[in-house]
Amino acid sequence: MPAQVKKKTAFFCQNCGYESAKWMGQCPSCHEWNTFVEEPKAPALSPGLGSKKQRPGNRTRPVRLAEISMESNERILTGMGELDRVLGGGIIKGSLVLIGGDPGIGKSTLLLQACRNIAAMGKSVLYISGEESLQQIKMRAQRIGEVSDSLLLMCETDLGAIQEVIEEQKPDVCVIDSIQTMFSENVASAPGSVSQVRESTGILLMLAKGLGVSIFIVGHVTKDGSVAGPRVLEHMVDTVLYFEGDRHASYRILRAVKNRFGSTNEIGVFEMRGDGLTEVPNPSEYMLSGKPEGASGSIVACSIEGSRPVLIEIQALVCRSNFGLPRRTAAGTDYNRVNLLMAVLEKRCGMELGSYDAYVNIAGGIRMNEPAVDLGILLAIVSSRKDMPIRDDTMAFGEVGLSGEVRAVSQADTRVAEAGKLGFKNVILPKSNMVSCKMIKGIRLIPVSTIKEAISAACS
Ligand code: TYD
Ligand code: MG
Repeated sequence: MPAQVKKKTAFFCQNCGYESAKWMGQCPSCHEWNTFVEEPKAPALSPGLGSKKQRPGNRTRPVRLAEISMESNERILTGMGELDRVLGGGIIKGSLVLIGGDPGIGKSTLLLQACRNIAAMGKSVLYISGEESLQQIKMRAQRIGEVSDSLLLMCETDLGAIQEVIEEQKPDVCVIDSIQTMFSENVASAPGSVSQVRESTGILLMLAKGLGVSIFIVGHVTKDGSVAGPRVLEHMVDTVLYFEGDRHASYRILRAVKNRFGSTNEIGVFEMRGDGLTEVPNPSEYMLSGKPEGASGSIVACSIEGSRPVLIEIQALVCRSNFGLPRRTAAGTDYNRVNLLMAVLEKRCGMELGSYDAYVNIAGGIRMNEPAVDLGILLAIVSSRKDMPIRDDTMAFGEVGLSGEVRAVSQADTRVAEAGKLGFKNVILPKSNMVSCKMIKGIRLIPVSTIKEAISAACS
């Protein structure tokens, strides 16, 4: 009887990389359905990280903290202020940055523009694409304008070849577009599978750290689970950025979800134009453009995104329901939060809302989940229900509690200052925030401690 052959394959969740001996309908780790695919198991010692053969540079040895020079931490600026900010002030030498996002959102465009700027500053840049031909990249480059000669392009999907080129060229910055198209011969499964994506990232990690090359990895976010998503890699890289936005709207938001070299939750705002991405240095102005004047159900609120305040318009439409069960929708904010705020209104202000449909929308398609926008949502609903417009130069922020109280939020003075910058005259804010708020010339601060006070201040 032959000795029992050890099973060489396992099932991997294509969303989070969870490994299981059997197929499962739902992943116990990330709870996604139908994401398991059978793949050959990775070799016990991942060659990317383990074997001597592939390790570039010298062997490492332990050092004292005092011996470490900080020079290597100087940052390369990308020439795009918004991207630099999200990265924490530029690209760190030898860092591995993952940029995730839906296909077609503009990841390749963003990176090509950054590469162009870095190359123009005299740094060596290598852009490796596994998705597009050189002609396609050239076409894109022509759309975004002048590209310096020192930008090197390559179309390759074999990581062995890529590794050789990077070791030979030692560029300052290298882009891998995208990780799902790369494959390493060490792993037998198809490109895009969890083991391939992990193995490839392992090799890139080693190259980045060993040679001091800053590497950007592009990762597509996919819903269907046929391609391993960037979540599989989040723990391996230094920085994870997500590029998001409504595909039909032209603005895009770059968000840091992990950053070993800077703060997370910082956002960068861009606008996709015919000639590439343009930075939006003042997002508030951008978000408020097109705000209707004198319309009921609309108010401006303020949310802090990272270190910046962003003013947004909240719209509500409340109308009599034709069916027994009223319809409620919330776009850009939490649905349950909207329901809760409406319940607070009914109970604490005696406002009849049970037979009314309510549609709440954050204009511009941006998502805002900070509790500070509560008061804005509530006032927009009241304004629409009473059909009374709120003055255009009024801004409101504050968290609403279940007893109908308006609670303090953080960084009130930053929010008031932003309102002042954009020409708002009245700011409705929680009374308990008044202590930390400096008076700004031309702005009337209206402190409120309950929603009743807020409503009479806004809609009267
Ligand atoms: P792309 O960078 O290819 O997206 P990704 O790499 O994330 O898949 O961007 C593709 C979209 O951007 C495409 O629909 C066309 C649009 N686009 C512009 O609107 N203007 C431009 O200058 C460029 C280069 C692209
Ligand atoms: Mg692309």
